[in-house]
Amino acid sequence: MLHNFNSGPSILPQSVLQQAAEAVINYNNAGLSLLELGHRTNAFQEILQEAKDAVKQLMQLNEEYEVLFLHGGATTQFMQIPMNLLDNTATAAYCDNGIWGNKAYKEARNFGNVVLVSDGNAEKYQSINKNFTVPADAAYLHITSNNTVEGTQWHSYPSTNIPLIADMSSDIFSRPTEFNKCSLIYAGAQKNMGAAGVNLVVLKKNILGKISRPIPTIMNYQKHIEAGSLMNTPPVFAVYVSMLTLRWILQEGGLIEMGKRNKAKSTLLYNTIESLPIFTAPVANEDRSEMNAVFFLKDAALEEPFLALCKQEGMVGVKGYRTVGGVRVSMYNALPIESVQVFCDLMQFFAQKNG
Ligand SMILES: Cc1ncc(COP(=O)(O)O)c(C=O)c1O
Repeated sequence: MLHNFNSGPSILPQSVLQQAAEAVINYNNAGLSLLELGHRTNAFQEILQEAKDAVKQLMQLNEEYEVLFLHGGATTQFMQIPMNLLDNTATAAYCDNGIWGNKAYKEARNFGNVVLVSDGNAEKYQSINKNFTVPADAAYLHITSNNTVEGTQWHSYPSTNIPLIADMSSDIFSRPTEFNKCSLIYAGAQKNMGAAGVNLVVLKKNILGKISRPIPTIMNYQKHIEAGSLMNTPPVFAVYVSMLTLRWILQEGGLIEMGKRNKAKSTLLYNTIESLPIFTAPVANEDRSEMNAVFFLKDAALEEPFLALCKQEGMVGVKGYRTVGGVRVSMYNALPIESVQVFCDLMQFFAQKNG
């Protein structure tokens, strides 16, 4: 049996995979594949509407916010956000707490002035510096709510008078959180929300229309709002898988239930790491991610044999990111706690043999 700890694309609920597979052959028993349906049909309109409604319900956001499903991965948003919100002569504030935040920051520099208010690079991103001031006239503050590669997570978002923008690609819908502190939330779907190919963008309408640059139509949030996410052909299948996954989250008990499950899994894993002296987790306790746990073997020579054992025992995707090394265990919503237990048992077994 395999245990899927992939960092993304990653584990999805079995029932979602089953329904998605059936829809590819015969959507709703109507004789056509979902892949053969027009995106302006009633059938797809219903899928899109259910997905949007589920997002609003889970995030508990009011009518000031719009929900968009757009093409491309989160990386597209690194460019689309400053293109829509940062004037050439204006300044945006960024937190660089990991490689994805760093990429977002660098991309924004193509559009205006950018200041780094929190920079974790020098200390290898092992904690999140939350003690900073943001220029009062900044167009927005950008954070990455969960640093997938380094294993840190914001457990409370910064309070600021300027619009807060959060890349939630790797912890979206993993727990109840302060969505309403944010003016723009975005996430590539392929971790907690579905299949690769679609971006969720949730934004407050009042942040738009404030810049002078002409924005190419396909990049323009306002135009997407006016077109109801149907400016051109959307990634129909990816939107459908997102809708199924959102429906699953609601049926399972929503974000309170997801939060409980994810807390239980990450507590089990971090406690196991701490109980076994051959392992070490360098991330500051208060910033540890509930989604991606990053840790190392104190004796680097044991890393290869440990990863080889993991592979042999069916633990998929636990090798650390190429620039970080070590071990990374991703525990997204669909991962059962039983998989984490099996992994912890394997750590104990390895520690006994090599301690
Ligand atoms: C936090 C975060 N932001 C952005 C990205 C990039 O996403 P994409 O590959 O969808 O562009 C990732 C990918 O893992 C991520 O974890």
